[in-house]
Amino acid sequence: MLIIKSITEMRKFLEMKNMRIGFVPTMGALHQGHISLIDRSKSENELTVCSIFVNPTQFNDPEDFEKYPITLEADIEKLVDAKTDMLFLPLVADMYPNGTANIRQYEIGFLNTVLDGEHRPGHFNGVCAIVHLLLNAVKPHSLYLGEKDFQQCLVIKQMITQEKISCEVITCPTLRATNGLAMSSRNQRLSDMGKVKAGLIYECMLLVKNNFSNESFEHLKIICEAKLFDAGFETEYFQLADANTLQPLISFDVNKHLVLLVASKLEGVRLIDNMRLN
Ligand code: PAF
Repeated sequence: MLIIKSITEMRKFLEMKNMRIGFVPTMGALHQGHISLIDRSKSENELTVCSIFVNPTQFNDPEDFEKYPITLEADIEKLVDAKTDMLFLPLVADMYPNGTANIRQYEIGFLNTVLDGEHRPGHFNGVCAIVHLLLNAVKPHSLYLGEKDFQQCLVIKQMITQEKISCEVITCPTLRATNGLAMSSRNQRLSDMGKVKAGLIYECMLLVKNNFSNESFEHLKIICEAKLFDAGFETEYFQLADANTLQPLISFDVNKHLVLLVASKLEGVRLIDNMRLN
């Protein structure tokens, strides 16, 4: 696997090659979910590039940034095992030569007012900024994102359209542990007991999915939020929404594509997950 550490090096490399490129951007602490994106990219492209960059501008909570797991050696091993062609490993100074304080502001609009947009001010602007910079550096034909970050996928698709970037976005299914816990880098910060408990988010989403034709959402939400509270979770949102727009809904409207989105903290670790209902 080729490791490239700067934009200049990346440009030189790309000048020499004329290949179909698939790109998997990550912040490291890689797990099977990331590897599934690499596998998908490998099956559809001639060259698969993965980036590892813990992007400081997308952390609204400094403690979350400080505690973000960094496991570079293990990540490199996983990428080599998955036969990744290239790892792009830039430094903060390379991605943000003018510093991180005054980055460009993107028109995120409605998506910035709901769910993670509402609860994590500045987060999606930081995501747009780094993904835009990475796309400019790697120039991929296809970008592979995990559906666990449902809202992030919509925000990035919107930014790519607004910026008229020619790159196809491919969203891939969430991978789960046997108890249903969605794979996430942040899970590394949970205790063994926490990992077991965290499966409750999936159980609650299933409860809603299995009962949405005979119960009201209001009722199911009360039951699920109480279950999560009793198990020690602090829930930020347990929201039903239109899957295409993320417009919040208060009842099951089966004429819409429905998605349930959850953000809840356990052991101080913020976990997000989602499930399509129809
Ligand atoms: O999903 C992530 O890991 C990050 O938000 C991303 C897309 C790599 C941007 O930093």
